[in-house]
Amino acid sequence: MPDSSNLTFPATDGVDPASVPQRQLRSGAKMPAIGLGTFGSDHVPHAAVADAVKHAAALGYRHFDCAAVYGNEDLIGESLQHIMRSGIRREELWITSKLWNDKHAEEDVIPACERSLHHLKLDYLDLYLIHWPFPNHHPPHCDVSARNPNAVPYIHERYMRTWRKLEELVDRGLVRHIGTSNMTIPKMDLILRDARILPAANEMELHPHFQQPEFFAYLIDKGIVPIGYSPLGSPARPERDRTADDTVPAEDPVILGIAERLGVHPAVVCIKWAVQRGQIPIPFSSRRANYLANLHAVVRDPLTNDDMRAIAAIDRNCRLIKGQVFLWRDNQSWQDLWDMNGSITPP
Ligand SMILES: NC(=O)c1ccc[n+]([C@@H]2O[C@H](COP(=O)([O-])OP(=O)(O)OC[C@H]3O[C@@H](n4cnc5c(N)ncnc54)[C@H](OP(=O)(O)O)[C@@H]3O)[C@@H](O)[C@H]2O)c1
Repeated sequence: MPDSSNLTFPATDGVDPASVPQRQLRSGAKMPAIGLGTFGSDHVPHAAVADAVKHAAALGYRHFDCAAVYGNEDLIGESLQHIMRSGIRREELWITSKLWNDKHAEEDVIPACERSLHHLKLDYLDLYLIHWPFPNHHPPHCDVSARNPNAVPYIHERYMRTWRKLEELVDRGLVRHIGTSNMTIPKMDLILRDARILPAANEMELHPHFQQPEFFAYLIDKGIVPIGYSPLGSPARPERDRTADDTVPAEDPVILGIAERLGVHPAVVCIKWAVQRGQIPIPFSSRRANYLANLHAVVRDPLTNDDMRAIAAIDRNCRLIKGQVFLWRDNQSWQDLWDMNGSITPP
């Protein structure tokens, strides 16, 4: 963990936040085109994540991707206080949080958001997402076989009842934008049909080996900003999210070749590709040198068109975060969560 006792804002080796690209949402608001992830994958201590938030802000990060289920929002809230005391205004920050799966019931949504706000010590969130489209939850640190006995499939009417409460959060001024996460096209079709306030963003797995080209194009067409999680292929993800067929995007020969030419770590190439493609990557790191490199990635040495074409060609359709723990029936395959045949998987 870097020493925080003499942390100065801005750090002398940082990046001017004004030079970091931004993406415009349908509201006209702009959000930084890279954020810092804050899920420590069950093994990075909460204090180390919160410390990274502080140091990352000093280096020029303004966007932080949080969630109630990461269990660290209270410590991140202290870091945000420190950041704002250092002279960075609230309006310069972009803070996302997410409603966890055990809080989808109508009466739980507003209190859950208020709890995140309380922990983060904020008056409002810039973006609030429904973390998963299923109200199925699992205990922290569980393994891949864990199942919630009350697990259910996607039930659109139920999801919309939750969504209406998110809309109310916007009406009440507690949240500026609302969005979805871990969605599919058939589910999104229904949400776009029925929502009063449309999703501003969808958070989804996106990296060179899982590019989701069809869904990506759909979102851009509908004016929904794609936020890409696990942009480096989540090398430290929990065991429950690993299978023998998983590939490693940062070890792909195309990525390695570009990294060698530019003299950077392959992770940096993944970030450059993400931002130039038009999604917002939210790489996690608890190492100052790494999150600094990821920020430098978006302001230095852009990839060439040939690089972008070469990376487009290495998609392996390899989903890493499969979500098995959210399945609702015995002997089901994780593919059922993702509506693989183009319609919502029936119960
Ligand atoms: N909406 C959702 O359902 C969902 C699901 C998963 C994740 N997320 C969000 O997305 C964020 C990022 O995803 P992720 O944490 O799964 O994976 P990731 O960002 O793809 O990978 C993070 C890992 O990469 C390493 N790393 C970062 N920068 C590096 C660099 N420049 N060089 C070498 N290694 C580097 C980090 O190690 P060091 O710490 O050692 O740098 C860390 O182990 C999460 O933190 C969370 O905020 C959301």
